[in-house]
Amino acid sequence: MSSVVYLNGDFLPRSEAKLSVDERGFFFGDGVYEVTRAVDGHLFESGRHMKRLARGLRELRLEPAVSLADIESISLDLLKRNDITQGEGTVYLQITRGAAPRTHHFPPAGTPCTVFLSAQRFTVPHDKRATGVAVVTYPDIRWSRCDIKTVNLLAAVMAKQSAVDHDVFEALFVRESAVTEGSHTNVFGVIDGELRTYPASNLILGGVTRDVVLELARELGFPVSETPFHIHHLAELQECFLTGTTTDVMPVVQVDGQVVGSGKPGRMTMALYEALAARLYAAVPAGTR
Ligand code: PDD
Repeated sequence: MSSVVYLNGDFLPRSEAKLSVDERGFFFGDGVYEVTRAVDGHLFESGRHMKRLARGLRELRLEPAVSLADIESISLDLLKRNDITQGEGTVYLQITRGAAPRTHHFPPAGTPCTVFLSAQRFTVPHDKRATGVAVVTYPDIRWSRCDIKTVNLLAAVMAKQSAVDHDVFEALFVRESAVTEGSHTNVFGVIDGELRTYPASNLILGGVTRDVVLELARELGFPVSETPFHIHHLAELQECFLTGTTTDVMPVVQVDGQVVGSGKPGRMTMALYEALAARLYAAVPAGTR
């Protein structure tokens, strides 16, 4: 059965949703996106996702016809229409500058933005979390506005493909020897008992999960510093983990073939996963996830 998606005001079967070849998302990657987690039909940290979306729209001067409140209600509606009101799902949202004859500058005033949303079931990678995952590094060849969640994702595509080619879970971007983030995740490391992650800046995406994990780490009393760790720190890493909407907290036990810490998911890592899960599944009866 084809899923139901939302496109420019209509709910319709995915197979019937069509875009123009003049779409600026297609020509230029001229747009933004969000991926939001849904548990039992509720959106997780929707406020933070909407805040980041609003900022991206403002920075790129995109003015869609829908409001943030509309987007939240369309998202909930899509979960219902696709029968994802129990268990895990994700909602994908993309807003582009619309369809118009190809020019690099903005299209004529009044060209409507394209607004697309879809909802899908999601399988949580618990098996990978139990053992931890391996990752490779990849040069951070991206532009200097990584803080905007743009659909212009070519560097992320190349990096993640490098991970697939190496048969590992994720690729970590490295800029001037500092580990910035993953192709679709943020990255944390523990050195001398201190939790470190690249500072929120124009060089990383300010992840919703990253923010929640920083908050939880402070609540748990873990020493935290928004300071990068470097590629030459790998031997000193006691723990390492990824965060993201589709990753939660994922232990990393190998980087470029080098074992991290004990080679097993770390103590702080798993405490942070449990704390995140407690928030994510706050409304779910115990024993049912
Ligand atoms: N990616 N960094 C990058 C480059 C990302 O693309 C993402 C998310 C994150 C984690 O952000 P959050 O915790 O808000 O999901 C960090 C989404 C999931 C994706 O592209 O599918």
